[in-house]
Amino acid sequence: MKIIRVKDYDEMSQKACELVSDQILKQKDSVLGLATGSTPEGMYEGLIEKTSNKEISFKDVRTFNLDEYIGLSEEDPNSYHYFMEENFFKRIDISPDHTHLPKGKATDLQAECQRYEDLIESVGGIDLQILGLGTNGHIAFNEPGSSFKSPTAVVDLAQETLDANARFFDSVEEVPTQAITMGIASIMKAGKIILLVSGESKAEALKQTINGEVTEDVPSSVLKNHSNVTIIADEAALSLVE
Ligand code: F6R
Repeated sequence: MKIIRVKDYDEMSQKACELVSDQILKQKDSVLGLATGSTPEGMYEGLIEKTSNKEISFKDVRTFNLDEYIGLSEEDPNSYHYFMEENFFKRIDISPDHTHLPKGKATDLQAECQRYEDLIESVGGIDLQILGLGTNGHIAFNEPGSSFKSPTAVVDLAQETLDANARFFDSVEEVPTQAITMGIASIMKAGKIILLVSGESKAEALKQTINGEVTEDVPSSVLKNHSNVTIIADEAALSLVE
């Protein structure tokens, strides 16, 4: 794993933006794996600016998001569909039929998981996957104890994740308790992976990711088994790493 140490959130976002831009400039029809949450917001802002300045174009890029809450419609302001539209897709030159997220209101959720997995395969897989890190070491919504062999699946969210994500809802009771998530096996198929980590609240999880053993108890520790992972982390997040 390559570790890029940066000062703070802004520097992390800038570095991530540079690496994603380089990927698109090298391969204009790249397939990107994307994350939601607070961590990648600054990176998206940077990519929007580069698109406005005509430094990069998403015209031929395809995107696949990691996850979506079950039960929320695409128009729900707390859905990841909505987050991606507002924070990224509607502000860049990407074609709407090139952006993909699992459908959290699919009537047949098992079929939806398979459809999503097949769709990623059908475009040749993900070239570059962006990940955030949960305070409990989750990647996407693969919570501690998830099998490293897991494909895209319906999962129960851990209490720590419900608590962490309650900040976006009126109360913790409103956070959906299940999601569709790309599995660890799906994520590990990506050609390259960038893990973004910022802030003291992620320090313990990042320490376990980098210094700990590879174990299903810490989902992010699986990244040690991938041949092309870059971690961009700020000083606060790296504060416990030996
Ligand atoms: C989001 C996702 C999650 C987040 C993680 C960190 O699509 O898959 O794994 O990356 O929960 O969330 P933030 O960035 O809000 O701290």
